[in-house]
Amino acid sequence: MSQHPERINLTPDLSISRLVCGLWQVADIEKNGAMVDPEQGTNALQAYAEAGFDSFDMADHYGSAEIITGHLLKRYAVGDKRPVAFTKWCPEPGPMTRDVVRRGVEDRLARLGVDKVELLQFHWWTFEHPAWLDALHEMQAMKEEGLIGALGLTNFDAAHLNLALSDGIEIASNQVSFSLIDRRAAGDLSSLCLKRGVKLLAYGTLCGGFLSEKWLGQLEPASIPDWSRSKYKRFIDTAGGWSVYQGILRAASTIARKHGVSISNVASRWVLEHPAVAATIIGARLGENEHRNDNLKVFTFELDADDQALLDRAFAKATPIPGDCGDEYRKPPFLTASGDLSHHLDAIPSVYTAVPVPGREDRMRVSSGSIWEPLAGYSRAVRVGDRILVSGTTATHGSNRCVAPGDPGAQATYILDKIAASISALGGKMEDVVRTRIYLKDASQWEPVSRAHGRFFSEVLPANTLIEAGALVGEYEVEIEAEAVVYIQ
Ligand SMILES: NC(=O)c1ccc[n+]([C@@H]2O[C@H](COP(=O)([O-])OP(=O)(O)OC[C@H]3O[C@@H](n4cnc5c(N)ncnc54)[C@H](OP(=O)(O)O)[C@@H]3O)[C@@H](O)[C@H]2O)c1
Repeated sequence: MSQHPERINLTPDLSISRLVCGLWQVADIEKNGAMVDPEQGTNALQAYAEAGFDSFDMADHYGSAEIITGHLLKRYAVGDKRPVAFTKWCPEPGPMTRDVVRRGVEDRLARLGVDKVELLQFHWWTFEHPAWLDALHEMQAMKEEGLIGALGLTNFDAAHLNLALSDGIEIASNQVSFSLIDRRAAGDLSSLCLKRGVKLLAYGTLCGGFLSEKWLGQLEPASIPDWSRSKYKRFIDTAGGWSVYQGILRAASTIARKHGVSISNVASRWVLEHPAVAATIIGARLGENEHRNDNLKVFTFELDADDQALLDRAFAKATPIPGDCGDEYRKPPFLTASGDLSHHLDAIPSVYTAVPVPGREDRMRVSSGSIWEPLAGYSRAVRVGDRILVSGTTATHGSNRCVAPGDPGAQATYILDKIAASISALGGKMEDVVRTRIYLKDASQWEPVSRAHGRFFSEVLPANTLIEAGALVGEYEVEIEAEAVVYIQ
């Protein structure tokens, strides 16, 4: 057996372990106020690094993880092969000015005590707020200045990853949940990553430890003390419940016994064998438990066709986790450690402000800041009583920049986020939409646009018309308008 985990190049300059050590658990250990002792925490990380588990994943909100990792990096002299630290910046949505973004990145540099973050991953809570593109463009500028080695995303679905790429952002990786229980990442996201050269970093592959011998044949727990398992218990419930999960665990156990490995090895191996996946991130409870020797066995075997068929039979009894990757942070069913995040999302200020129409008590309107709205005399959207009418909307970012030039599917995604934001500023929801009209520059491009429309409306099913408009003003590939009737109980 190899003494170290396999390695992979995330970018031509960045070699990482295919088993990354995840440090979210530091925040869980520290949740009652007692911090991990920095010296002891650093010793624990150094033991991982010396065993070849030298790539660490953390975030701005993972307790003292960035600080401890900073201490670790200082133990290596300039010129030594240093461990690799990935972190994340997860700002509250709001204007992403140059200063805001620079401060967010500089905080990461300061806490880690480095001149360059090797991989900086970006999370965004709601795509209705379009400033995420400003943040990524500014981070890309900081990458060009040498302050960031590679840019990553976390919890982005295929549509928004594609939008970022088509808007000119160079993305190395997307970190998402991917496991025997949550197989969403094997779909559209994997296909896109393979096509566009983005690598997946998979978390939740062990479902917080639920995918291990420890839980085989066990009764459903009444309460769960740690954040990680609380989160993945929600995934288990959504995937069909305890007995369906036990069926998957039994299949993995049969395969594990056949290969002389553990259930956790089978769970990790299944994810690692997906060609878009660069690495799995395995959470570590520093100073409590460590499973390095067992996890190394992941590289001693391969799953064969019989193993895959056995797992597929267990999957067939499960309910697929709904939606695409990252939806669990943005819409029901919220599958997060703290559960329902709607209160958090509702507290995020809307990107648009609804203003009353003077002299018309039954009317409100919003403007999106396009230079054309006052010039040509129209609003982005108007509410009259319970009806909301959204103007023909293009992928205009800010006052006049066309987003994702040449990519009609990406433009449609951007447009529909903008329509969702206008409707919600006027007190409605996308579920209230009763009519949409799509104007396309080139009818042969109907499919990516229709698919984008389907992602928003496959359950709402509004009346729809799709028209080839022949030519649209500017660089736009597509324009969409919508009408909603707000349901008042
Ligand atoms: N981007 C995001 O939104 C996001 C979200 C969640 C996590 N993450 C990242 O992913 C990392 C992984 O965390 P996770 O919460 O998803 O947990 P996970 O990796 O699915 O589970 C980690 C737990 O599995 C158990 N374990 C590990 N190896 C084992 C083995 N060989 N045999 C038996 N049990 C084993 C350990 O439990 P015990 O300690 O109880 O033994 C460990 O604490 C995080 O630290 C973080 O870096 C990112």
